[in-house]
Amino acid sequence: MRGGATRLAVASASEAEELRLHFPDTPILVMGALTEEELRIALAARADVAVWREGFREVCSRVAAELGRMAQVHVKLDSGMGRLGERDPAKLIELARACHADQRLELAGVWTHFATADEVADTYLGEQLAAFAPVADAVREVAPDCTVHAANSAATLRDAATHFDMVRCGIAIYGLDPFQRDPAEHDLEPALELHSYVADVKRFEAGASAGYGRTWSAPEDTWVGVLPIGYGDGVRRGLSNNGELLVGGRRRPLVGTVSMDNITIELGPETDVEPGAPAVLIGAQGSERILAEEVASRLGTINYEVTCGISQRVAREVQE
Ligand SMILES: Cc1ncc(COP(=O)(O)O)c(C=O)c1O
Repeated sequence: MRGGATRLAVASASEAEELRLHFPDTPILVMGALTEEELRIALAARADVAVWREGFREVCSRVAAELGRMAQVHVKLDSGMGRLGERDPAKLIELARACHADQRLELAGVWTHFATADEVADTYLGEQLAAFAPVADAVREVAPDCTVHAANSAATLRDAATHFDMVRCGIAIYGLDPFQRDPAEHDLEPALELHSYVADVKRFEAGASAGYGRTWSAPEDTWVGVLPIGYGDGVRRGLSNNGELLVGGRRRPLVGTVSMDNITIELGPETDVEPGAPAVLIGAQGSERILAEEVASRLGTINYEVTCGISQRVAREVQE
């Protein structure tokens, strides 16, 4: 693919199905848990799937037989994340052997996931790595060609020892920083911007209020811009009287409560902003920029949640 990835990984079967329409030959791995129905969709889309229990290995084998195809499976060790994965290394190796021996399955990978790669001073990543490496070696003895993988974005940037055969970068490929700092520190360039526009500009006399609950009133005579974007689009309500966005190349405070479909910004006692002016909620305008990491920090969350929260009704525009 043009960005340089040679494989794709997703959480769900429906995502794999959609990607398959666009990438007929690219290997796709579904990392999440699957119901039998979802497994059918994933295998029909020729996606690899995760296996960490003997019961699910049997289901994979049966569904693959029904579909008249082989299923590529990646056995997953829970080396300390405490989510999906087999905890017991011996049981995982046993499961790998059972997959390898199964006529309907190809043991395509062995993998794990790190809990603290984004916490720079931690030592737990090293402990997880030490638990995973010997298991990966043992599984490779069973299937020498299987792909060993463990690293998310933070681990990829932090420690080359986590890279093995491939890395599973998520947030970093969007140019966002897994450490919640400025992406430029790791030469990452944000790929996503969130834009709107000023639909109206209104004069507010001192004391006039904007929005539900009248949480903001003009401290003096001023101008207020109204933007047709709100929490229904993913602009979180926690930004009420607690956010900034860019209009006319300057930061403008978000005033009043974020509504489902509208927000209001203060433009000051004198303004040259007119209806139709472009607004940037995440991204750059002139020499100013607002990072997803900044928005996340205001909300006490992480950039992942801010960008995942942009809703389906926001029209996507992809620039090559
Ligand atoms: C199993 C697994 N691998 C890789 C990733 C990618 O992580 P990141 O976006 O931090 O690179 C995720 C993200 O949720 C994940 O759950």
